[in-house]
Parts: sequence; C-alpha cells; structure tokens
Amino acid sequence: MIKLSAKKPEQFAGDMLVYCVRQSKNKKISCNNRILDRVASTAASLKDFSGAEGETLLVYPEKKEKGAKRFLLVGLGKEELTRELFRKTGGTISGFARKIKAADLMVVLPEELEFSVSEMAECLTEGLVLGAYGFRKYITDEEPDKKPGQIKSIQLSVRETDQAKQGIKKGVVAAETGIIARDMANEPGNVWTPTSFARFGKKLAAHPGLSCTVLGKAEMKRLKMGGILGVNSGSAQPPAMVIVEYRVSPKAPTLLMVGKGLTFDSGGISIKPSNGMEEMKYDMCGGAAVLAAMQAVAREKPKGVNVVAIVPATENLPGEAALKPGDIITIYGGKTVEVVNTDAEGRLILADALAYGIKTFKPDAVVDLATLTGAVVVGLGHHYSGLLSNDDALTEKVIASGERAGEPSWRLPLGPEYRKQIKSEVADIKNVGDRSGGAITAAAFLKEFVGETPWVHLDIAGTAYGFTEKSYIPKGPSGIGARTLVELIRSWESTATG
Ligand code: BES
Ligand code: MN
Ligand code: ZN
Repeated sequence: MIKLSAKKPEQFAGDMLVYCVRQSKNKKISCNNRILDRVASTAASLKDFSGAEGETLLVYPEKKEKGAKRFLLVGLGKEELTRELFRKTGGTISGFARKIKAADLMVVLPEELEFSVSEMAECLTEGLVLGAYGFRKYITDEEPDKKPGQIKSIQLSVRETDQAKQGIKKGVVAAETGIIARDMANEPGNVWTPTSFARFGKKLAAHPGLSCTVLGKAEMKRLKMGGILGVNSGSAQPPAMVIVEYRVSPKAPTLLMVGKGLTFDSGGISIKPSNGMEEMKYDMCGGAAVLAAMQAVAREKPKGVNVVAIVPATENLPGEAALKPGDIITIYGGKTVEVVNTDAEGRLILADALAYGIKTFKPDAVVDLATLTGAVVVGLGHHYSGLLSNDDALTEKVIASGERAGEPSWRLPLGPEYRKQIKSEVADIKNVGDRSGGAITAAAFLKEFVGETPWVHLDIAGTAYGFTEKSYIPKGPSGIGARTLVELIRSWESTATG
C-alpha cells in the first residue's frame, strides 16, 4: 500500500496531495508549492490554520486541472520533532483521507527538517498504515455513505530515496505487526479461541527458520502444567500452549517472549460483575502481541538473536469442573499454589509458560506481556504500561524500545518485601495478596517462576484497549506491545552484530 514515489508532487493526479508544514511565528507557512503557500498564509492571517500539531487545512485546486484533486496541509507544530510526532501526523492524514474517502494519496516529506529522513519515513509510514486500520467485518448493515473510505495507495515523495526506502520498510513491518495484533484482539471470544492461537502459530511455521509446537491437554498433563489445566477446567474449549521458535545460531542470545492468551476471562467461580465483562475478550492481547511480533521476525529474519514465543491460551469460565477458591494446584516444575481467587488466573497460566519456557529454552532474557491486573489501571491509567523486572539492564532496553515505538512503560518496584503478601498457610504461595499493590504482588507471583533469568513483565491491562485512542490508534484494542517487541528484537540485532 505504501511506496516511494517516482513522481514529483506536481505530477501526482490522485485524490489527495499532502504537505506537512511547521508552525511559524511570522504566519508564513511554507511547503514549496507556491499556490498552497499563498492559501496557507491567507488562512494563517485569518487564524484558521497555523500549522499547529495535528491541524489540517483542505484546499481545492481552482480548476479541475491535471494535478491532485485535493491538497491537504497538516501541521507539525513548532515543538521538537519526535518519532511520535511523525507517527501521529501519519495517523492524522490517514484518518482524514478515510473520512473524505480519498483512496490514492501522495505525502510530501518536508525538506530541511532536523530529523533523520529514514526515521521520518519510518514513523510517518507507521502512522499512515496504523491510522488506516478499521475493524468492521461484522457490520453488515452500514449505509455506504456512512462507511469510512478505504485507502488504496500512499506514495511518499522525498529526495533522499535510499534512506527513505529503508525507513518505509521498517515502518510497514512495525505497523503491520500492530495490525495483526489488533485483528486477533478484535475477534470476539467465540471466534478467537485457544485453537485460533494454535492455528496462527502453525501458520507462522510455514516461514523458513520458524517452527511451531502446540502442547495440548494431554501434553500439559504429562508435563504437569497445573496452572493452565486448572484455569481451563471450567471451559469447553481445549487449552493450547503455543510455542513458536526462531533459531539462527546456538551462539546467539535467546529472547523468550511470553504472552497471556486468555481468550475470555469471566473470572471463573470468582465471577466478575457483568458490567463491562464483554471487554474480557481482550484478555488475550499479550498473546496477540507476542505472536504478531513473531510474524515480524519471520519477515525481518534477524541474524543475531534467537527468538522464542510462548502463548498459554485458554478461557476462564465457571463450568462444572472449574477451579474453586481454596483449590491447590501444582505449576510446572513443582511449586504449589493455593487458588484464593479464580479471577487471578493470568498469573497461573503464565507461571506454567514461564517455568516451562525457561527450563526448555534457557533464554538469556524473558519478556512477558499480560493484561494482568486492574490495579495497574488504577495506578498508571491508560497511557503507560506497568513494567516490573528483576534486571536493570533489560528494563532499560525494554523501556527504550517502548519509547521508540510510542508505547511507553513505567517501572514499578518489585522488592522481596512484597513476597510476604502472597505467602500461603497451606501451599508454597497463594495467587492473590490483599488489595494493596495489586500489580506488584501479581508480578511478585510471576517472579517465583523465573529464577535468576533476566526478566521483564509488562502489565498492559491499561494500555491494551480503551481510552488509548490517538490519531493512529482507534477505539478498541491498540495492538500495544507488538511494536515494542519489534523494536526490542531490532535492538538486539544491532548490539549483537555491531
Ligand atoms: N484480566 C484481568 C485483569 C484486567 C482487569 C485486565 C481490567 C484488563 C482490565 C485479570 O485476570 C484479573 O481478573 N485480575 C484481577 C486480580 C485480582 C482478583 C487479584 C483484578 O485485577 O481484579
Ligand atoms: Mn481474571
Ligand atoms: Zn485475566
């Protein structure tokens, strides 16, 4: 959909030609197009358009000439240029194009900005592609007029073509990774089941260099994975532990990514209130991010890092054989857990996945993503994911990757003092503490299963969906984490090879 343009802007005869402009103090807005510069300056003197961040000005050519049907000026503001600004600008452009049903666009990259051309192309591309996303496959009765348009092609016009080409390539992969994660999350719980994760994993294995193993109920029993089996026991859908491996070299470091794949969380016997329960179909967003990132690995084939993804997938329902409060289960590896609350199920399935993944693959680093606690939403709201870790260096790496991706996270403490809250009288640990520090005690629980391996846990309960909207993020699932993982894997690649 996105490509570098061979044409000059003047030669573009499509639906909309877009110029990005900086806000200027002297009301002179410049985009290297004489007519537009004049219109923009008039608009500026009327205070209709100043080039402020996210501002748009739609302009029509005087006569129906050969050129573009419409022009759009988009403001870049006057603050420091950042990757996120270009991503948001891309989203603004896509959103605008969809609204007016412009299908063929050309976006002119501004010249002479103090910002790397490849990164500008990368982030604009990301924003354009992510911003063009919509999930409407289940809407059958929409009036054609009210339907948002579909963008068919976007050309980027830029002078430094080689740099821009690289940027576009990266941007497309990252954006499509986010979109794959959104697509999975948008599917309702009756469609996207644990088996769907398994199917997705198997499909990934068709790519050279990737393989997939799915552990079913029988294997889980043999391996004594009492966490996922326990959570699954109230559900009619079989569980799946989906393992996707990408191996380049036994000498290269191994990154293990684990994602919570709870395809619907009713709470189980400790059932949730019905208000808002439908949102618990999004309780698989961590798993979606991890498998989407694996798809990016299949496309980019990093040379300096082995990557393994594990998604423990099940529903949490109160069927007749469901786990009950007070039950004691045994996680893979032998630790026993008193289940005080069946709604704290994410940590039970993650415990199996983490313990099994670390034992089997001996990774150098582990990152898990999970919509794990309501407490993290109370603490951080919807704009930062909670990060908890046993390793400062890995923390720094993950925070930096999230920063590059526009998916920030904030570290919370995880000292040994929190472990007291999950001490049990009847088992090794229990699955909930008291109400205080809920995001931290959840992480303290997971910490029991990672040993000395450097590990980062991202609690994405607040960032995976809802109130996370921005120009390139729609209502509904955001695809959070997927692009952070892409960045993380890329950062590994660059430190490993250079
Ligand atoms: N999936 C939920 C966490 C969640 C809450 C995600 C809100 C997104 C939005 C998780 O399984 C859960 O139910 N956690 C409980 C834990 C509690 C019982 C200790 C919670 O946070 O209420
Ligand atoms: Mn729950
Ligand atoms: Zn859950």
